[in-house]
Amino acid sequence: MRVVLGVSGGIAAYKAALLLRLFTEAGHAVTVVPTDAALRFVGEPTWAALSGRPVATDVWSAVHEVPHVRLGQEADLVVVAPATADLLARAAHGQADDLLTNTLLTARCPVLLAPAMHTEMWSHPATTANVALLRERGVSVLDPAAGRLTGADTGPGRLPDPEEIFAAALALVPDAEGQHTAYDGGTPAEHGAQALRGRHVVVSAGGTREPLDPVRFLGNRSSGKQGYALAQVAASRGARVTLVSANSDLPVPPGVDVVEVETALELQEAVLAARADAAEVIVMAAAVADFRPRDYLDAKIKKSHAPGQEDSAPTIELVRNPDILAGLVADRGADQVPLIVGFAAETGDESGDVLSHARDKLTRKGCDLLVANEVGRDVTFGKDDTLVHLLRPDTDAARTVGPASKNLVAGAVWDEVADLLHLRSAVPADG
Ligand code: C5P
Repeated sequence: MRVVLGVSGGIAAYKAALLLRLFTEAGHAVTVVPTDAALRFVGEPTWAALSGRPVATDVWSAVHEVPHVRLGQEADLVVVAPATADLLARAAHGQADDLLTNTLLTARCPVLLAPAMHTEMWSHPATTANVALLRERGVSVLDPAAGRLTGADTGPGRLPDPEEIFAAALALVPDAEGQHTAYDGGTPAEHGAQALRGRHVVVSAGGTREPLDPVRFLGNRSSGKQGYALAQVAASRGARVTLVSANSDLPVPPGVDVVEVETALELQEAVLAARADAAEVIVMAAAVADFRPRDYLDAKIKKSHAPGQEDSAPTIELVRNPDILAGLVADRGADQVPLIVGFAAETGDESGDVLSHARDKLTRKGCDLLVANEVGRDVTFGKDDTLVHLLRPDTDAARTVGPASKNLVAGAVWDEVADLLHLRSAVPADG
């Protein structure tokens, strides 16, 4: 795909060189458009060498090619990293005083801005208003990461990692990887980039732990990576995201509200609280324990050393946990809000393959979308890449995505959600 990488004048411009590499190594044709100020931080030869293409620096070069219009018109994706407070202000007000702002005005493709600046500049009401205006118009603006800034100070304002910007950018144009097979009834990506804007979405992630005693628990191998990717992509698409996270060490994606839980019952309580806060979509990506020990023992369970008891072991009695997903589905009114997405970690066996088990689960759980993946000790859990089948009740065809990064899969899941939301809005409530 044709990518325009805009770079504005901040110290973080050097990180854009790494972002550029990620795009070129993935086979994309990138034209770098640095502002004059950016060129004071990283010079033209670096951009030219890394992109393997001429660098577009101003509206007065190669005028016969009308670069101020053409670059934006022809782009499949525009990414600006870092986007300074000044660049955000100029973009929000439709200024066209250099090649990059001209390009932003002529682009009709997805646009992702990755801000980086000092905390005071980011939190200034002028910047807040500019970001809100840009998001309202459909531009994806990442929240900056928090951490060490250029000087000795710390706070929100850091440019997110190049890998994160790259993933967020690809999620805006998932078809670019050729991973998607659209349904006959519509092209999910068509609605994808805009549909989540301003909606409250809830994602559960990670794996629950059911304590036995103060040091032991029953747990599972879920890392939380897929749920965190879903949260991050939803935030970059402008959703208000609540991430209910069970025992994951992953960094919280920028702009995401996290609620940490340990057990299935805590996870249920947190999801229900988030639902009550006008949730429109709930994605249950967490691996929730079906059973928990009936009793929690306040003191550590000890081995017996009594004569004749050396081989003895305690019996642990389990009780059922609630099926949170099924409960969410059962509790919905006639409006079927919120839209509910379930996950199915499946293994094929003699009674059927992954897809047939997943189809059964979709029917049993009654959710609107089921994301099925094949699991095993070395497949999916904790890995960066995954292969999923997306199943909906309204079609027998499953959409297969991957093997692909969990971010790309997250983009495909949100595309499906967008398509389902679109269908709902098109059908009158009584129809
Ligand atoms: O039935 P199974 O556990 O395979 O279903 C998986 C789906 O159901 C996941 O979306 C998971 O988050 C959800 N689940 C749940 N409550 C449980 C068990 C699973 O919500 N107790």
